[in-house]
Amino acid sequence: MRRLVVKVWEFPVRAMHWTNFLAIVGLCITGAYIHYPFLSTPRGPAPWLMGYARYIHFICGWALMIGLLARWLWSFIGNKYASVKEFFPFFYASRRRDLLDVVQYYLFGKRHLPPHLGHNAMASVAYLLFFGLMWFQVVTGFALFGQYDLHGTAYRIFGVVLEVFGNGWIRLAHYFVLFVVFSFVIVHLYAMWVSDLAERDGTAGSMFSGYKYGPLEEFADLDHRPWKSFDDRRRGGT
Ligand code: HEM
Repeated sequence: MRRLVVKVWEFPVRAMHWTNFLAIVGLCITGAYIHYPFLSTPRGPAPWLMGYARYIHFICGWALMIGLLARWLWSFIGNKYASVKEFFPFFYASRRRDLLDVVQYYLFGKRHLPPHLGHNAMASVAYLLFFGLMWFQVVTGFALFGQYDLHGTAYRIFGVVLEVFGNGWIRLAHYFVLFVVFSFVIVHLYAMWVSDLAERDGTAGSMFSGYKYGPLEEFADLDHRPWKSFDDRRRGGT
């Protein structure tokens, strides 16, 4: 079978993905420590350990906010795979059908994923929700941060959520998202490996290289030139 190799993820998309990834890892580790400072004892750990944890949390918080903003802007200027339209499959009849097919595929009701090069329709919905959740963390995080200075900019912009919902609920929600992030990571990695191994579409490596593979006939209507095509049999394909 002849397969195409297509440049799907441009460099800025990959750079933002890994920036957001590093920021989220830093936020989860330091956030968990802020919640449960297991190294703090009456005799104390190294001085300022909690201070460092919070300092790193806030730096990663800034990185996440900038990463999210940049990715949002890129969805208007990047290629079609990065486009804002990709994240709203329910607005397009064909992608609504794809969405059902992908759900069936992951429930073992279909043998193959519908052909796609960017995100599959279910991944699009998952990333839309995840980006929304990360914005929620930015808003609640900066609101909590704003409490250190009630006359500061952070409180003036984000403090309204504390006034509406109260500090307790916002803090609880901000903490709860930690577990949603853990769950997301497990599902994200599983879905990525299934797609990569079963469909052999290069998903796993694509966020490093930018390239994905697809069978030639499925992408006959590709509106841009593939990077190259190759004979799958030489790689052990059928
Ligand atoms: C993936 C995103 C994030 C996760 C998983 C996360 C996780 C956490 C957790 C678990 C806590 C401890 C909550 C508690 O025990 O009450 C916390 C506290 C906090 N987070 Fe986040 N956070 C994230 C994003 C952010 C962002 C973007 C900011 C913005 C600067 C931020 C600012 C804060 C602040 C100010 C606190 C309270 C720290 C304190 O009072 O000592 N967080 N976060």
